Amino acid sequence: MAEEYEYTCDDDILCGVNVPKDASHLAELEEKHLPVITAPDTVNRNQSFEVTIEVGKYRKHPNEASHFIEWIELYSGDTFLARTTLAGSFSEPRITLPVKLTHAHGPLKAWGKCNIHGLWEGTKDLKVEE
Ligand SMILES: [Fe+2]
Repeated sequence: MAEEYEYTCDDDILCGVNVPKDASHLAELEEKHLPVITAPDTVNRNQSFEVTIEVGKYRKHPNEASHFIEWIELYSGDTFLARTTLAGSFSEPRITLPVKLTHAHGPLKAWGKCNIHGLWEGTKDLKVEE
């Protein structure tokens, strides 16, 4: 009789999007991969503001040809805002982008993709005023 089991990707970091299990107590892998967003708490509608996203802010992530952050994306909720492709060892996984919104679609959301450890998500609340 064939052995039956139910496959689960709960513990597979290459499945889905990784978010910290407990934001107040980050594990080492989470510290290295969490995209940390720095932006104002409140911005004015249609006025440009800067958003900085850094992967490895809490604990430095390797940045070499064999292990690096491949790209960083920024969203407002699920609305795409920007994507930056990075080259291991030549560019640091820290980007600053000018952004302009007519309204918030939800929190700012950043995705960072490690070539070995998969996709990681960081968020920051943002209010857009008149
Ligand atoms: Fe990694």
